[in-house]
Amino acid sequence: MSHYFINDNNIKSKENIIKVCFKDKEYTFTVDNGVFSKNKLDLGTKTLLEALDFNNIKGNILDFGCGWGPIGIIIKNIKDKDVDIDMIDVNLRSINLAIKNAKQNNVIVNIFESNIYSNVSKKYDYIITNPPIRVGKKILYKILFDAEKYLNPNGELWLVISKNQGAKSLYNDLLTNYNVDIVCKNKEFYVYRCFKRWQLINTLV
Ligand SMILES: C[S@@+](CC[C@H](N)C(=O)[O-])C[C@H]1O[C@@H](n2cnc3c(N)ncnc32)[C@H](O)[C@@H]1O
Repeated sequence: MSHYFINDNNIKSKENIIKVCFKDKEYTFTVDNGVFSKNKLDLGTKTLLEALDFNNIKGNILDFGCGWGPIGIIIKNIKDKDVDIDMIDVNLRSINLAIKNAKQNNVIVNIFESNIYSNVSKKYDYIITNPPIRVGKKILYKILFDAEKYLNPNGELWLVISKNQGAKSLYNDLLTNYNVDIVCKNKEFYVYRCFKRWQLINTLV
């Protein structure tokens, strides 16, 4: 069985154009077989985008596991010069679609292949992700816990997770390393905002 996070050249390409509406703006995205959510904006991704605090987001942002690019491209479109966005994925077809989609939607973002953080060399104010749950707990936890090393001192990790994919136990595990706010909770998903513990200590002293 093939997974969206594996580079599988046997999956026949069949590109398709979809329209995504977000905050009164219509985006045009090219999608394809062999990538995550190939027919529409994933509901978890939509929940995460709706939960983001667009008034305050600024600085360097990493869209981890960008897929065909909805998170990074939409944030860049809305926040423009307030943000510099890097977008990474291990799936090369996703990377190529994200590059095409950035051009199609007239935004300038930096998109590159990376297996977890292998090609990431800077620190971010935000790491934002609809993480790949299907990769298994070991890799998922590496993505989420190593994120701390790639965050600036006041940086934040934002993620969405489905209730039936272990949202509650992940919340408890995240608390071992981060302070965690539950930013949004709906029928299907939780959105967590994680920040380094010492930030809180610093504000108290
Ligand atoms: C749940 S999908 C989200 C895709 C996109 N951000 C969206 O919201 O539609 C997770 C993404 O993580 C990518 N991914 C999986 N394992 C990865 C790894 N080891 N390093 C980087 N990206 C990975 C997958 O290829 C996939 O595109």
